Amino acid sequence: MLRLAKVGKRDVLYDLGSGRGLVVRLAAAEFSTKKAIGVEVEKDAHERARRIALRQLSKGKLRKVDFWYRNFDDRDIDHSDATVVYNSLEENEWEISFYKKAFRRKRLRVIKKDLPFVSYEPTAISSENRSCWFFAMRFPLTKIRSPEKWASIVLGKPNAEMKDVYRYYLRQVRRRNIKRSEDSIKHLRRLVAIRF
Ligand SMILES: C[S@@+](CC[C@H](N)C(=O)[O-])C[C@H]1O[C@@H](n2cnc3c(N)ncnc32)[C@H](O)[C@@H]1O
Repeated sequence: MLRLAKVGKRDVLYDLGSGRGLVVRLAAAEFSTKKAIGVEVEKDAHERARRIALRQLSKGKLRKVDFWYRNFDDRDIDHSDATVVYNSLEENEWEISFYKKAFRRKRLRVIKKDLPFVSYEPTAISSENRSCWFFAMRFPLTKIRSPEKWASIVLGKPNAEMKDVYRYYLRQVRRRNIKRSEDSIKHLRRLVAIRF
């Protein structure tokens, strides 16, 4: 998944909503990132991420990771050194403008799980075990005007429609046992209505 955004040793990666820190550890251990930072709002997950990293990473790699117990959109966080952001959460209405303001980098790359930013073109798509899809994007983003064209790109199928995207997305959220999967679909529909 990090290969998708060509993550490498010059990158500073932020995982926004980093859970137990798997992506942060992966970035440091296998992609030799200059720095990898996990921002996590739940204390237990944050502490667990730190403990696992201490156990699993070498001293050298540990110097290149950090875990912040924070809400990732807190205004006073300075992420301006980021070159790559991974965010596996569902897209917020304000997410794109947040990246523009908070990261202040023209060429920031963002990796999202399940869907690219609604109505924007991904630069690369990959799947792990055919059930989990990742989308890379690069600022400045390329807007897609037609929902059908966006649906076809997202699903990798010509002539796809938005109803196919909703079906695919419902499958993804159910697979992960997200209890209120209908809310996720409602949220996606709202975003689609705003953007197209
Ligand atoms: C599904 S986990 C993903 C973990 C990791 N990114 C991965 O893909 O392996 C999502 C995490 O995001 C955290 N989260 C949700 N909203 C957040 C916010 N506003 N700021 C920081 N963390 C947040 C949750 O507490 C949860 O641990």
